[in-house]
Amino acid sequence: KFIAVLNGPNLNLLGTRQPLIYGSDTLADIERLCDATAGAYGIGIEHLQSNHEGELVEAVHRWRESALGFVVNAAAYTHTSVAIRDALATIEGPLMEVHISNVHAREAFRHHSYLSDLAAGVIVGCGIEGYRFAIERLVTLTGHRPK
Ligand code: DQA
Repeated sequence: KFIAVLNGPNLNLLGTRQPLIYGSDTLADIERLCDATAGAYGIGIEHLQSNHEGELVEAVHRWRESALGFVVNAAAYTHTSVAIRDALATIEGPLMEVHISNVHAREAFRHHSYLSDLAAGVIVGCGIEGYRFAIERLVTLTGHRPK
């Protein structure tokens, strides 16, 4: 029983990358937060961060039937990737889309997402806490209860 958490390009640099926009938390901090949040419900996490579009597509293929749901921050691919969109259109469980920054307060090219209309919910601008909110929401949507 697990939730898949996918992080896209450049998110491996979190903590040092544009900290005024993305904060000082690292990818490892996100992974710990996700593990702890899901763990409280007896649910595991499969994590993947990749800078390669095809690797993200293949991770969706790997987990599309077995994951309870997906939390996806596709980073820049959010705004460009029909391939990741098409893969996510095949998942069995719900999708939650997360962005650390408030993409709507940034450049116009970040306002469109190829994923949002597939998502059960979208969380933007809440920093890494957005991942916690997304997992809590998947727990609710999949009918899980606190232990
Ligand atoms: C991001 C927002 C994207 O526009 C950007 O390309 C990222 C990160 C976020 O989490 O705020 O790399 O997805």
